Parts: sequence; C-alpha cells; structure tokens
Amino acid sequence: MLISRVKLKNWRNFREVDSPLFDVTYLIGANATGKSNFLDVFRFLRDLAKTQGGGLQGAIADRRGLSKLRCLHARKDTEVHIEVQLSEQTADSPPLWRYHLGFKSEAVGANRPIVSAEEVFRLRGDDEECILKRPDDEDLGDRERLTRTSLEHPQTNARFREIAEHFANITYLHLVPQLLKFGDDIGGRRLENDPFGQGFLERVASVSDRVRNSRLGRIKAALARTIPQFEDLRFDRDKVTGRPHLEAKYKHHRPLAGWQREDQFSDGTLRLIALFWLLLEGDELLLLEEPELSLNEEIVRQLPVLIDGARRSTKRRARQVIISTHSQALLENKGIDGRGVLRLERNKEGSTIHLPSEVDLELIEDGASPAEVLLQQTHRQVSKEMALV
Ligand SMILES: Nc1ncnc2c1ncn2[C@@H]1O[C@H](COP(=O)(O)OP(=O)(O)OP(=O)(O)O)[C@@H](O)[C@H]1O
Ligand SMILES: [Mg+2]
Repeated sequence: MLISRVKLKNWRNFREVDSPLFDVTYLIGANATGKSNFLDVFRFLRDLAKTQGGGLQGAIADRRGLSKLRCLHARKDTEVHIEVQLSEQTADSPPLWRYHLGFKSEAVGANRPIVSAEEVFRLRGDDEECILKRPDDEDLGDRERLTRTSLEHPQTNARFREIAEHFANITYLHLVPQLLKFGDDIGGRRLENDPFGQGFLERVASVSDRVRNSRLGRIKAALARTIPQFEDLRFDRDKVTGRPHLEAKYKHHRPLAGWQREDQFSDGTLRLIALFWLLLEGDELLLLEEPELSLNEEIVRQLPVLIDGARRSTKRRARQVIISTHSQALLENKGIDGRGVLRLERNKEGSTIHLPSEVDLELIEDGASPAEVLLQQTHRQVSKEMALV
C-alpha cells in the first residue's frame, strides 16, 4: 500500500493544502517553505500508530504542544486536520482507504488535545463504506476517550489494522554521520525513533544473519559502483564490548592494511549505506531529508536511479519514498517522473504546494530536466524575495 493523497488543514505552515503523492515524490522549495514540516505529517501519523508508546498526547507533546503545531496563520477555524488516502500500488491505482483525523484543544481544564473528528472509509470504485466515525455515542458518554485516536489501540483499530500498521512502520532518516561515529563519546540523548541515525548500527545488528548478509551484499555491490576504490563491506561485533560495527576495505590501501571501522568511513559513505539499507528494509513509506548531503555531485546526479534500483531490487513491494531536496544535480536526472516533483512556495498565509503544470510536464517530456523547469521556479522566488530585503 502507499499513501496516494494528503490533505492538510492548519498543519504548521500549511493553512490548507491537498496534494497527490507518488511512488517517489520530490519536495522542492526555498528554505523555510515547509519541506520538513510536510514530512513531519507522516512522522506524526507514525507516532500516533506505533505499537509502543504511541498516541495523540505523546505525538503532540513531542512537538511541544498544539499551539506550536497549529498553523499560526489560522484565525477563527483553528482545528488541525490531516486526511490521507491509501492505494494498493501506484498513485494512479484506485484508492482503497481514506483516513481523516481532526484535533483541537479541549475547551476546559488543562486544554488537552482532543480528537474533534476521526473517520475511516473503505473505498471500492465509487462506493465508500464508513468503518469509523467519531465522535460517536461512546465518546460523548466518556469524553476521556477523545484524548486518543482509534489508531492507538489494537482493540479500536481492528477493522482497519492495515492502515495502523502501515503508519506505524513509516520511517524517517536524516542521518548525521558525526552522531553515528561519535555518539558514544558525545554521550548524546537518542531521540524517539532515532531520526538522526545514532542507532543505525543496532538496526543493522537486529536482523538475522541471513537478512543482514543479503542486504549488505547488495549494498556492497552498489557502493562498489559509486565509491572509487571501495572493495568490501562486512558486519562485526567488538569482541570486548559486543558493540556492532561496520567495516570496509579499500583497494588502494596496503595489502595488509586491514579493515576500517565506521568511524573512519567518509560521511558520504555512511549516508549512502544507511540510505540503501532503509530502501531494502521495509515496504512502507520512507522519508528522506536532503539525501544529497555529503555526496559528490556526480553521485548525487545518479541518486534517483540508485534509489529506484534499490527500491526495486527486493522481493517485497518497492518502498514509497518522499525526498526533500535542494539539489540541482539530483533534479537534473532525466529519469525522474516530473509529475512527482512538488514545489512548495511561501505566501503571506503560509505555504502552498504546486504540481508541475501541463507546460512544465511537456517541457520535461521534450527532454528538459526537472531542475531546468521546476527548480528554476524556486530560484526565481528566492531572488524576488531577496531583492525586497
Ligand atoms: N505552527 C506554525 N505555523 C506557521 N508556520 C510555522 C509553524 N511551525 C513552523 N512554521 C514555519 O515553518 C518554517 C520552517 O519550515 P521547514 O523547516 O519545514 O522548512 P524547509 O522547507 O524544510 O526549510 P529548509 O530547506 O531550510 O530545511 C519556518 O519558517 C517556521 O516559522
Ligand atoms: Mg528542512
């Protein structure tokens, strides 16, 4: 399944948006146009549904409260609404499910966030079967129930378990190599769901030897094609501490120079390894923040093809991916389906999302790259705004 459409109301800097999503969606836009905020919607759904410690109260508290999350441009109508549509395969296939959640502050007491609406529909052609509609009589009899969504509990999500499981397995990565390399020395606190990849090696360690060897084998082949002199990659555990490590070998080293551990890897190598690992790991939505960071421009240019190749190389269903990027080189790749490039633009009333126009798509069809056609439009907005400063 994949998330084929998302509608937002009052979510951070989005006052009201409605956008399709694709197998691979690229988010482009100037700084502070809301790319990370857009990705955060799906992390929020994950936080609601995750099997341990999930839920509305925690997900909002982690974002420092409803007042930080609700759109500052909203005036009278301040409820936050998220609606997603899920489809079986590509975004073009007919939708199967619609999930809608609205929430607001309780008008009394501690002003806790409460559910103002929660609906689930199963879709078949033009028919919609309503599976859940809240508030219901039970909610009205016991208002405490409104502090939770139905996603949060196996008892309440039984009739749409596949949606809850899909959300719970959404993965986000913005790997910060230094945190992975020096996490123990820094003694840094690890955030919930490890968005910055501090625990990436434990993730690698947690699967069976067979799965790990198969994934590392494929990553090794991909690295050998992208990193000059790279020769071999393996997993190891420290004999004394038992800590997991990745080790790599390079051709240009002396024959007996041995293996290098991850703290000697280049930042780009580490980011690529984590990227490939996650593409092979599951079949739910993967959110990637600026995958171009630390990578040589030539590799960035090939990233869309590498990502697509890794997505399709597993026996599972290929992962849906949403990528935020500023990279000209990445968007110069002509293999990108232009329809999946969403441009975010800042206005007085928050940000809006723009799909490529018919003319844009024709230009791309005729051989122009998404960078030439679409990224240029974000550059023009930045120049215009800077001229006004
Ligand atoms: N509740 C809110 N209401 C309105 N605007 C908000 C809200 N919360 C955050 N913002 C605004 O959203 C913007 C940040 O958006 P975000 O971090 O998603 O940008 P971005 O496109 O990822 O930028 P970059 O390219 O720099 O990473 C900031 O300008 C911030 O003020
Ligand atoms: Mg960002």
